[in-house]
Amino acid sequence: MHRFDKSSLPHHLAVIMDGNGRWAKQQMLKRIVGHQKGVETVRLIVEECSKLEIAYLTLFAFSAENWLRPKTEVKALMALLKKFVRSELGRMMSNNIRFNVIGNRTELPADINAEISAAIAKTETNTGMLLTLALSYGGRQEIAGAARKIACDVAAGNIKPEEIDEKTFNNYLYTAAMPEPDFLIRTSGEMRISNFLLWQLAYTELYFSDVNWPDFDKKELYKAFHHYQSRERRFGKTSDQLQTGMPTA
Ligand code: FPP
Repeated sequence: MHRFDKSSLPHHLAVIMDGNGRWAKQQMLKRIVGHQKGVETVRLIVEECSKLEIAYLTLFAFSAENWLRPKTEVKALMALLKKFVRSELGRMMSNNIRFNVIGNRTELPADINAEISAAIAKTETNTGMLLTLALSYGGRQEIAGAARKIACDVAAGNIKPEEIDEKTFNNYLYTAAMPEPDFLIRTSGEMRISNFLLWQLAYTELYFSDVNWPDFDKKELYKAFHHYQSRERRFGKTSDQLQTGMPTA
């Protein structure tokens, strides 16, 4: 098992859970079986991150583009999602997890939205990890939506154009109340961001695992954290500046 320092784990971990379909195909199973197995991995990773006291865990569960998948697969994913939110509620309560969703919720079926709202309300006062599911989420849509809301506020006289800077812009995103991700894991060997948290990932350390999501386990998570701890996060500065505390000027 890879060793890592429990005191310097990412504060905010974001995950692109990819490869359910390929996992299923390799086992000659239907894609939906891959998603079902993927849900088990979600449970395991949520539990482990919560134990490790990761403050924020954000999972890309359904993209704005995923609506274009075959109707049967979309339906099956929605059913899994509903079941997941309902069945996880007890575990979220016992692990002190706060539940949250980002994305265009108006596109989700009403019954799922009701389940989500109930889980958000029930876990609202929990003080442990914030578990966020990105559902019907697209980074470009989020940025365009923020620009639209800012334009409305300018038109209404609530803010002045010269007040719009990175900080104000951030306040109009779904993630306004969260810190930016420190670490992004994408599984299944694909090296893309796929429209996930485009604004927020500006300085995030990226990690790509060859393992398909259903096979991603505690050992793989620890391996990823081990890599994270070997990275030097410079935020545009030089290595010397970081090591010696050299001034910027
Ligand atoms: C990518 O696999 C996975 C998704 C479409 C999203 C992740 C979904 C789950 C883990 C299951 C549902 C989640 C919850 C929280 C209930 P893919 O189908 O794109 O894999 P492929 O690229 O190999 O086809």
